[in-house]
Amino acid sequence: MIDPFGRSITYLRVSVTDRCDLRCAYCMAEDMTFLPKAEILSLEELDRLCAAFIRLGTTKIRITGGEPLVRRDVMTLFASLGARLGGALDELTVTTNGTQLARHAEALAAAGVKRINVSMDTLDPAKFAAITRWGKLDKTLDGIFAAKAAGLAIKINAVALKGFNEDEYDRMLAWCGEHGFDLCLIETMPMGEIDADRTDQYLPLSLVRARLRKAWTLEDTDYATGGPARYYNVAETGRRIGFITPMTHNFCESCNRVRLTCTGTLYMCLGQDDAADFRPLLRAGVSDDAIDAAIHAAIARKPKGHDFIIDRRHGAPAVARHMSVTGG
Ligand code: 5AD
Ligand code: SF4
Repeated sequence: MIDPFGRSITYLRVSVTDRCDLRCAYCMAEDMTFLPKAEILSLEELDRLCAAFIRLGTTKIRITGGEPLVRRDVMTLFASLGARLGGALDELTVTTNGTQLARHAEALAAAGVKRINVSMDTLDPAKFAAITRWGKLDKTLDGIFAAKAAGLAIKINAVALKGFNEDEYDRMLAWCGEHGFDLCLIETMPMGEIDADRTDQYLPLSLVRARLRKAWTLEDTDYATGGPARYYNVAETGRRIGFITPMTHNFCESCNRVRLTCTGTLYMCLGQDDAADFRPLLRAGVSDDAIDAAIHAAIARKPKGHDFIIDRRHGAPAVARHMSVTGG
C-alpha cells in the first residue's frame, strides 16, 4: 500500500483495549471513562482486520492499548496472528506496561513474539508509584525479567518529563546496559485531557542527548526499526539508546504506519483526527473484498503529517483523544 506521499505503509499498530491497570499522569486523567463493551471489536473481528492488512502488504503488527495484556483472552489473538508469521507477516510485537508480563511472557514467546517494548519511566519505586498513580515498580520489574527469561529482546520506553525523571537517564542507561536492554526516550505529546498542564512537563530531547554525551559515548548508527526513533550505539554498554522527538523534529516524512483502535477505527496519523470506521462493515457482514477496498480508500487519505504544538496560551491538547486510544 502506497499513500499519496509515496510512503509505503507496511506497519499496523493495533490497540486491543482502551483500558489500563495504571493511570500514568501524562497519559490519563485519574478518572477515565472507558468504552462500553458493545463498541469493542471481538478478538475474531480484530484478527479478521489484521488478516486483511497482511493480505494488502502489512509486514509488521504491534499490539498496544491501553494496556494490551489486561484484555481478556488476548493471548488467543497473539496465537492467531503468530500463526501468520513466516508467511506475509514478518514481525509481531507488543508494547506493554509490564504488569502482566510475568503471566504472559512465555505465551508471547511461544506465539512468535521476539521483541517487546516495556513502558517504564523511572527506576525509583516512589516516583514510579507517583507517576503511574496505581503502579508498583516491583511488579513491572518482575514482568521485565520474566520476559528476559523467556528470551524476548526488550526495549524500555521512558517518557521524558521535566523535573520528574530528568536526573535518572544516566542511571537508566546503565541499568539497561547491565541487563541487555535498549532504552528509548520519548518527548511528551499533547494528546488527550489529563489533570496537569503539559507545558510544565515538556523536556526537549536535544537537551537530554547533549547532557548524556558528558558521560556516555553515543555513536551514530544507521540502525532503524522503521519507526520515528533516532538510535545511537552506547559504546560503554554495547546497547542502544533511541530518541523519539515528535515535538522538536518532524519525523512524518518516513512514516510507514497506521493505527487501528479496539473499536475498529483506523487513524491514518497519530496527530490528526481523520479516521475510517471499519466496525459497521464488519458487523454488516461485508466481503473481504469490501474490507480491502475500504482499507485502500483510507490509506489514500493518509495526511502528510502531524502538527503537534504545545499551546502555551490555551494549554489545550493538539489531539483530543488520549494516547491510550491509539497506543502511541
Ligand atoms: N506523550 C508521549 N508518550 C506517551 N505515552 C502515553 N501518553 C503519552 C504522551 N502524551 C507513552 C507511554 C508508552 C507509549 C505507548 O506511549 O508511556 O511508553
Ligand atoms: Fe497505561 Fe501506558 Fe497510559 Fe501508563 S502510559 S496509563 S501504562 S496506557
